[in-house]
Amino acid sequence: MKTLPIVGTALLLVVTALAQEKKPDKLAPYYPTPESVVEKMLKLGELKRGERMFDLGSGDGRVVIMAAQKFGATATGIEIDGDLWKQSSAKIRSLGLEKNARIIQGNILAQNYSSADVICVYLLPGSNDKVRPMLEKQLKKGTRIVSHDFEFAGWKPEKTETIDDDGEGRSHTLYLYRR
Ligand SMILES: C[S@@+](CC[C@H](N)C(=O)[O-])C[C@H]1O[C@@H](n2cnc3c(N)ncnc32)[C@H](O)[C@@H]1O
Repeated sequence: MKTLPIVGTALLLVVTALAQEKKPDKLAPYYPTPESVVEKMLKLGELKRGERMFDLGSGDGRVVIMAAQKFGATATGIEIDGDLWKQSSAKIRSLGLEKNARIIQGNILAQNYSSADVICVYLLPGSNDKVRPMLEKQLKKGTRIVSHDFEFAGWKPEKTETIDDDGEGRSHTLYLYRR
């Protein structure tokens, strides 16, 4: 009976590896940021009314929606997953936020962020390594980048904020960078 969990874990690893082989563009699984942490990310990024915010891998659209609704920004999410793209786009429509919020169905690595004032990222360390050269090339001087939980190797954060407990017993670290 003891071998069962080991077999199960091995199977899970094989299935994950196969899934990644089929979706090599996938930079992170879907794992939403709690709403309270989203607000802290946007505050840390000093997002202001009328500014442009991009969420790289926008999931259910919560960062984009809060940026438009609560901060008055023009917000764009990029999402590779078709179901999440549909779900988040429908939510934006139902809230009447289409003028200031939209989700592009596509790959983070195939977009242009040169108009961004703030970039939000919740990916993985290896994914940040892939995204970093593109951001270094494209971003204008002064753009703020807020990364949830994972640092950008080679960049020095201007500020780091730790949330010890998000109310569900999870801790979070936010990193603010300025180009
Ligand atoms: C950890 S979740 C973060 C979701 C959201 N930003 C949040 O903080 O709640 C990462 C998201 O990135 C998306 N994603 C992964 N690789 C991507 C890629 N290459 N292009 C666009 N989206 C991607 C995933 O589908 C997932 O929804």
